Amino acid sequence: MRIIVKTVEETQAIAGLLAKNIQPGDTILLNGDLGAGKTTFTQGFAKALGIQRPLKSPTFTLVREYQTMRFPLYHLDVYRLGEEGGADELGLEDYFGREGVALIEWPAFIADLLPQDVVSVTLERVLHDETNQQRVIDISGSGPRSQSIVAAMEK
Ligand SMILES: Nc1ncnc2c1ncn2[C@@H]1O[C@H](COP(=O)(O)OP(=O)(O)OP(=O)(O)O)[C@@H](O)[C@H]1O
Ligand SMILES: [Mg+2]
Repeated sequence: MRIIVKTVEETQAIAGLLAKNIQPGDTILLNGDLGAGKTTFTQGFAKALGIQRPLKSPTFTLVREYQTMRFPLYHLDVYRLGEEGGADELGLEDYFGREGVALIEWPAFIADLLPQDVVSVTLERVLHDETNQQRVIDISGSGPRSQSIVAAMEK
């Protein structure tokens, strides 16, 4: 699934649509450069689940946990591990595939710890976009569960 959005609000609406189709145990990878909109996307996802307070980026803490009506939401940003390494001893895999839903910024830095069946979201700036607000958002699934989520979003 590929969408071109023109504003933050549109990015967050797509995130909200994903949130509507999510269940406990699902894992979402957020790819894209610095400032592409991964945290902004997560904010829209959280809002759609009824989390009102603003999300803080967990760059230094690696993980922030939020409570929704249905399940805990784990927002991970593992950018820091790209330089420091040492991801294997942190037990981060406990956040994946269990009772909660995890969204992970910079998932490539913990590639060995990730589940097989994940939703991958990639945000990319549009070249020569003078508003600086356009993004191409790609969403795909790597297994049966995640592919069914993407199919439900496309409907
Ligand atoms: N359509 C859009 N979607 C998402 N963000 C947008 C859009 N248009 C403009 N922006 C702006 O781009 C910035 C995206 O920052 P954000 O923190 O979400 O990026 P990030 O991918 O999480 O970066 P980092 O890798 O540093 O964590 C914000 O300032 C946001 O307001
Ligand atoms: Mg971020």
